Amino acid sequence: MDIVVGVSGGIAAYKSVHLVRILVKAGHDVTVVPTEDALRFVGAPTWEAISRNPVTTSVHDDVAKVRHVALGQGADLVVVAPATANTLARMAAGIADNLLGTTLLAATAPVLVAPAMHAEMWAHPATQANVRTLVERGVHVIGPDDGELAGGDTGPGRMSEPEAVAEAALRLLAPQDLAGLRVAVSAGGTREPIDPVRYLGNRSSGRQGVALAVEAATRGAAVDLIAANLAGDVLALAARPRIRIRPVATAAELSAAMKEAAVTADAVIMAAAVADYRPAQAAPHKLTKEDGILDRIDLVENEDVLAALGAARRDGAGPDGQILVGFAAETSADPEARRERARRKRERKGADLLAVNLADAEHGFEKPDNAVELIGPDGEVVAEVAGSKRRVAAAVWDAVLSLRR
Ligand code: CTP
Repeated sequence: MDIVVGVSGGIAAYKSVHLVRILVKAGHDVTVVPTEDALRFVGAPTWEAISRNPVTTSVHDDVAKVRHVALGQGADLVVVAPATANTLARMAAGIADNLLGTTLLAATAPVLVAPAMHAEMWAHPATQANVRTLVERGVHVIGPDDGELAGGDTGPGRMSEPEAVAEAALRLLAPQDLAGLRVAVSAGGTREPIDPVRYLGNRSSGRQGVALAVEAATRGAAVDLIAANLAGDVLALAARPRIRIRPVATAAELSAAMKEAAVTADAVIMAAAVADYRPAQAAPHKLTKEDGILDRIDLVENEDVLAALGAARRDGAGPDGQILVGFAAETSADPEARRERARRKRERKGADLLAVNLADAEHGFEKPDNAVELIGPDGEVVAEVAGSKRRVAAAVWDAVLSLRR
């Protein structure tokens, strides 16, 4: 997996040489991101030799590959060891004027810090407040240990031993329970052209679909993400090595791309909002009021992509099958009525699972959170999950895996 080891400027930097060595030996691709100060303790050649990857501290290197954010986006784990009082303060404040800072801000993976400093600095209310802030944000902390410090002092402030930091780090890595699987996910909303400047569309942001793709990639799958009209900031979340992005615009394009990806896919998820209808004809030039034809648009029905995938697929369970998942936004306030509709929809479309999205004021379209009920093959609710779209994504993949077994 891809691990970033951030090193800040403290004498304990020498211990991180051993930490990097352990992580590389465990088979991980480790990129070391030292601060300028850290290089005064251990130089770049040492980090490069141990990690077998180039080392830079600057946000201005490799600009074409947007290295200052790409490193963080692509990381499965970020470890900051040693984390000095200064680096902890900068992390808490979100300061990003060096490569480690930008990497940390761009990272969505777990972050582990191993503080190292003098006992007084560790005990200072400022440091303690910064650590609390980081912990509240989900950052994991190991140490510091009690013991001998630089200059002969003793007390809490020693960086934990490299073996202990490595062990804590490896525990944070996501399970690779989707490794070896190829999956296809559609995300976003289709746009059906009326003329060159207008379209029939919907409000799907694609965030749930992207969360599904990112979760799958993090757990080891190779992902085809069929992206229907995603905004740049949403699409950027999917920029990682194991995700192949295929942009599409219309339902017809999405259908063709999904069918192609489905041929080799072990699991297919239709999270995109596909337009049920399209204008019978897209005008070749911009329609005007003078044309007098803007008051009426003739529609023809689009193919149901999920149903087509359902009809074409290999049987669900087992290693050779294909698991098919649909999403449905149901707005009925009565949960039983919602489930009944969802059961019929799952049957009709030939999906194994239907994730019933509760679209209301707090959840669903354009919102960071989602609330979903997963209807399984026998019509039963196999999982219920509310929270971030990533959390919903994790529950969907858990259900896919248990169906495969
Ligand atoms: N879907 C699809 N192709 C379509 C419409 C929908 O593949 N032309 C998929 C969606 O990606 C989603 C699922 O079908 O996974 C459910 O979509 P939904 O709009 O709820 O279903 P409809 O068949 O349109 O039913 P309704 O009558 O509730 O609109």
